[in-house]
Amino acid sequence: MSDIATPEPPPDSHIDHASSIQYWNNTPPTVDGMLGGFPQISAIDLRGSASFLAKVRRLILRQTARGKLEKISLGVDCGAGIGRVTEGFLGNVCEVVDIVEPIEKFAQALRDGPFAKKNNGVVGDIYITGLENWVPEKQYDLIWNQWCVGHLTDVQLVEYLKRAADALTDSGLIILKENLSTDVDGNDHFDSVDSAVTRADGKFRNIFKEAGLNLIKTEEQLGFPKSLGLLPVRFYALRPEQLKS
Ligand SMILES: C[S@@+](CC[C@H](N)C(=O)[O-])C[C@H]1O[C@@H](n2cnc3c(N)ncnc32)[C@H](O)[C@@H]1O
Repeated sequence: MSDIATPEPPPDSHIDHASSIQYWNNTPPTVDGMLGGFPQISAIDLRGSASFLAKVRRLILRQTARGKLEKISLGVDCGAGIGRVTEGFLGNVCEVVDIVEPIEKFAQALRDGPFAKKNNGVVGDIYITGLENWVPEKQYDLIWNQWCVGHLTDVQLVEYLKRAADALTDSGLIILKENLSTDVDGNDHFDSVDSAVTRADGKFRNIFKEAGLNLIKTEEQLGFPKSLGLLPVRFYALRPEQLKS
């Protein structure tokens, strides 16, 4: 008998898209549903995102001497759910926000809801699909991914980020805002409830390298009440290593 232990299958090998789709289809189309029972963090989250994006955009402006911060022409909210991020933040900084979301009822809540009606034309095209299958057909100035890339395997995430990088305008940006694993050994964590992985910071950085992306700024989201015991949340701002201009 060999005493060499069989290696554990990697956490992302357990991801099953059918079961995550089933989980989200059984989740109410509400802010509470989107935030796993913590709707009270939404305002802090949106303020943190607006502040991080402004800092990154100023950094790019300084590097490219492009002048002042103007409205972003075309953004896309990936894994958008009911459009909480579009409604509370992206819709204010972008002229148009496209939506990518696999759950039809979530996208419908945004399309038919008061925000889209009041802000005619701000919600652009809606793609009902998972990011692993999304092939962008446009050039975007901002590709925002929040609390959703854990549904992709590592290989799917690398491939998706390469497609996203190809779909950026010359001053475009990819942003990820995701929970981080706090595993003491630095491993990712698989959650069978929604069939998703929570990645470690080091894993994210390796994935970005593999996808040919430069990490131009990263920060932790601060301000969530400690008493809630939430995982750390980190922003990553990414641009292709090979810039178009
Ligand atoms: C925690 S919610 C976050 C929603 C939104 N980003 C927010 O911050 O309010 C996760 C979202 O990811 C979506 N999702 C599930 N599988 C996905 C996939 N394969 N690709 C993209 N999004 C996915 C879910 O339907 C859900 O809307």
